Amino acid sequence: MTTMTRWWRDAVFYQVYPRSFADSDGDGVGDLPGIIAHLASLAETGFDAIWLSPFYRSPMADFGYDISDHSDVDPVFGTVADLDALLVEAHRLGLRVIIDLVPNHTSAEHPWFRSSRASRQSPHRDWYVWRDGSPDGGPPNDWQSQFPRVGPGWTFDPPTGQWYLHSYLPDQPDLDWDHPEVVEAMSEVMRGWLRRGVDGFRIDVPQRLAKDRLFRDNEGLAQEPDPRFVGRRYDEDQDHVVDRLRAIRAVTDEFPDRVLVGEVYVLDQRRMARYVAGGDRLHLAHDFTFLRVPWDVAAIRAAIEGALEALGPDGWPTWCLGNHDHGRIATRFGTDGRGEARARLIQMLLLTLRGTPFIYQGDELGLPDSVVPPDRVVDIHDRDRVRGPMAWAPPSVAGAGAGFTTGYPWLPLTDQAERLNVETQLADPASMLSLVRQLLRLRRSTPALRQGDLRLLDGPPGVLIYRRALDGDRLTVVLNLGIDDIIVSTPWVPPCGRILLGTTPGREGESVDGALRLSACEGAVVRTDDDR
Ligand code: NOJ
Repeated sequence: MTTMTRWWRDAVFYQVYPRSFADSDGDGVGDLPGIIAHLASLAETGFDAIWLSPFYRSPMADFGYDISDHSDVDPVFGTVADLDALLVEAHRLGLRVIIDLVPNHTSAEHPWFRSSRASRQSPHRDWYVWRDGSPDGGPPNDWQSQFPRVGPGWTFDPPTGQWYLHSYLPDQPDLDWDHPEVVEAMSEVMRGWLRRGVDGFRIDVPQRLAKDRLFRDNEGLAQEPDPRFVGRRYDEDQDHVVDRLRAIRAVTDEFPDRVLVGEVYVLDQRRMARYVAGGDRLHLAHDFTFLRVPWDVAAIRAAIEGALEALGPDGWPTWCLGNHDHGRIATRFGTDGRGEARARLIQMLLLTLRGTPFIYQGDELGLPDSVVPPDRVVDIHDRDRVRGPMAWAPPSVAGAGAGFTTGYPWLPLTDQAERLNVETQLADPASMLSLVRQLLRLRRSTPALRQGDLRLLDGPPGVLIYRRALDGDRLTVVLNLGIDDIIVSTPWVPPCGRILLGTTPGREGESVDGALRLSACEGAVVRTDDDR
C-alpha cells in the first residue's frame, strides 16, 4: 500500500524549459548540468517543485515533444546520469521534480513508428493510426494539424499506401490508445521514470488521447461553445478520455506521493474539470480559459469563478498564465507600455489565489518576448519569442550570453538583459524577482493563502478584489487593474488592517483604516486586524 499526501496543493511549481535555462558546455543550448547548477537558487527563491519540459532523445522537430527514445536523455541535454544527479540534488534541496510525459505521439524516428510504417504486417502497425484515403484520393477525413502551417492532420506514406494521423507535425505520428499494447508500453515508460525518482508528470495534450472512433469529419464543428475552438468536434476530448486518464493514474498510484498535471487544452471549464474529477484521474489541470484571459476584471473574475465552480468544493484549481507555447505575460499585457507593472500584479494574483500556481521560467524576472529576426526563426508555430534564454547576469559583466551561455545562444536573449537578469534583480529590492521572492515567502508563511477559502467581491470598476480566510485569519487582496489611481474603501477593505505586501516596494506594514490608496496597476494584500 503506497502512501499519498497532497503536497502538490501547497506547492508552487516553476517550469524549466531546458533548452533555454542554462548552458553548461557553451554549445548555446541549455542542458541538465546547467539546471543542476541553478537548483539552489530556485529553492532559495522559494519554489517547491519544478516541471521539466522534455529532455528525451529527440530529432527536435518540435524541440523535444517528438521523442525517439523515451528512456534516454538527448545528448544535447546530457545523460541519464545527469538526470539522476538532478533528482538527487533537487530532492536534497527540498524541490520536487515532475517531467513531461508525451503520450499522444512519438517522433517518426521512434523505433515503434519505424516498425509501424515498414509494413502493414508489422507488430507495431496498429500502435499508430493508419487509414486508407478517401475515395477522391485525399486524406481519410478533414482533421487538421494543430499547427495551421502543417495543414491536414494526415500524411500519406507511399511504402504501405496508407495515411497516418498526426495531430501536430508529420514528424509526430499519433499513437493509438485503443491498442492495449500502447497503453502497456506507455505505462512501462512511466514506471521507468517513477522508479528513477521523478515526483510525477506533466501530461502533454491529454485531451488528444481520445478521438472519435468513427473518425467523423469535424466539418468546422466545435466541441466547445467557444468560437476560438472551432473545428475540433471529433479529433479530441471524446468521453472515453476518462479511461485513458484512469490508466495513467493507476500506474502513478503504484508509487507513493506522485502527481499528475495535465495540459488540458479544453476551453470549456466543465469539460476541463472532468480530467481531475473522481479521484482516479489527474490531480491537477492547467486551465487554458484562465491562461488566455484578456486584461479585464470581469474576464479574469469569470475565469476564476468558472474554474472554482466547475471543479466543485473538493476540487483543486491550478493557476498558470504562461508557458513555452504562449506569449509572455509582460508582452501580452503590455501593448501600451504598462507590461512590467501588470506583470507584477499578475504575480500577486497567481500567488494569492486558492490553488496550485505554475510560473514559467523568466516570468519571475518579467521577461518580455524576445525579438527573433527572420533568419533565426526555428519553430513552425511562432513560439521562438517566448523561448528566449534566461539571463543570469548583466551582459556587461558576463558577456553577450548573460550567464546563459558562453557560446552563441540557440535563440536570441531579451535585448533588456542588462536589467532583466537574475543577478541584477537579486540585488534590487524593488525588482520583479524580489517581489516574487516576497510573495513566495508570504504564501509559505501564511496558511490562509494556501488553504483558505476564496471569495470574490464585486469591487469598484477596474479593481479585482477577493478575500482569503482560514481559522480567523482574514486577508483581502486588492488588485487595481485600471490606469487611474484610486482609493478603495470599506466595505471592500477592512476598517482596521495593514498591508502585508504591496506590488510597490516598502508598503508592507502600512495601516489600512477603511481606505487603501492604490496607483494605476498596483496591488496589495491586506490583513484584517482583530481589534489588535
Ligand atoms: C503541447 C506542448 O506544450 C507543445 O510545445 C507541443 O508542440 C505540443 N503539445 C505537441 O507535443
